[in-house]
Amino acid sequence: MFNKSIYADCSATTKPRPEVIEAMMKILKDDFGNPSSLHRFGRAAKNHLNEARENISSAISANEEQIIFTSGGTESDNLVIFGVSRLIKELSDKEKHIITTKIEHSAIKEPLEYLEKNGWKVSWLNVDNEGFINLDELKRTITAKTLLVSIIHANNEIGTIQNLKKISEVCKEKNVLFHTDAVQSFCKIPIDVKELGADFMSMSSHKIYGPKGVGALYVKDLQNLKPILIGGSQEAKLRPGTENISGVVGFGVAAKLLQKEMSDNAKHLRELQILLMERLLKTNNVILTGVGLDKVQENIPNERYFYRIPGHVSLCVKDVEGESLVLQMDLKGIAVSSGSACKEKNKNALIKPSHVLEAINIPQEYIKGSLRITLGRENTKEDIDFITQALEATVQNLNKGKEKIPI
Ligand SMILES: Cc1ncc(COP(=O)(O)O)c(C=O)c1O
Repeated sequence: MFNKSIYADCSATTKPRPEVIEAMMKILKDDFGNPSSLHRFGRAAKNHLNEARENISSAISANEEQIIFTSGGTESDNLVIFGVSRLIKELSDKEKHIITTKIEHSAIKEPLEYLEKNGWKVSWLNVDNEGFINLDELKRTITAKTLLVSIIHANNEIGTIQNLKKISEVCKEKNVLFHTDAVQSFCKIPIDVKELGADFMSMSSHKIYGPKGVGALYVKDLQNLKPILIGGSQEAKLRPGTENISGVVGFGVAAKLLQKEMSDNAKHLRELQILLMERLLKTNNVILTGVGLDKVQENIPNERYFYRIPGHVSLCVKDVEGESLVLQMDLKGIAVSSGSACKEKNKNALIKPSHVLEAINIPQEYIKGSLRITLGRENTKEDIDFITQALEATVQNLNKGKEKIPI
């Protein structure tokens, strides 16, 4: 029954598409020049860099000079946190204040914990049971010393999409810079930075069928950021170092293609997502996490506002370990993940319960049994049949196994 191989872990990473690989191979083989060089090889590389920048900027309705290429989402997030923190000299470190949420990816959470340990004031906003922040709490938390508000756009573990327009309106009203980590939403739902009003936005290539190790930061006004690396004039001096041309070209091609297909992909993934959620709701000992089926069904693909990433399903199974679920599913040929791919471990190398699931108040008996199934453009309805059958069998087996253990 399970002689298949299904990849359903697209929030962890995606398979680079053939057009991406082909474009990258051309750079590696032929147009390998350094874009800072004046000769024809350099100029050819520079043209590729410009084209990639245009592909990324047009995907979010930004201007080309507002796109800074980085080594990925983690670097983009770090560049904002540490780049903005170096900006204001008038306040001492103890007075500086940043606001974020309790459900950030570790690329935001850990830099902010580092600043907090070094005397900064960091406010961690609560979220409701579906993972949405409360705008009134945000308004109340902003003070005259707040430098930055950083709020994840689409959450990697539970798929919840925040209403960025409303958040950025609050930040604008209070005159505070606003960053969003859009690694999981970029090219999956419509994003227009002018309409959203964010000052900074992080993006990553390997979540959109591009190569790993490349990403970008949208910076509305370059004056609002300082570099965290020093050494060259590339990327408006905000990210020095010879550019990863093959990487950015692959990223640009991936973004251009996915942007074109966005509406069809969202429709396809929404259908699979609803089917999977409906089936899981009928599975014993399973609860769904994040935005519920009712809100997912409310979204029609052409709508401008989405509540949950299309194709993203997250669940928890009672009294089992998420890692056991992942391994059992893998034995059946299905690649899924236990919450996030970048899970924290405690001192004894045991995996800690997810801070995101804690923030949305998942009951203790479910919290360690988290599973994330994130579908992509190649998944089919048939895959959903396999995934649900395999999951039901896995949950039953793990529960049976437990019954046999003497207490
Ligand atoms: C929301 C979010 N932010 C940041 C990152 C880090 O991106 P990268 O892997 O490109 O460093 C990820 C990766 O999983 C993510 O999901």
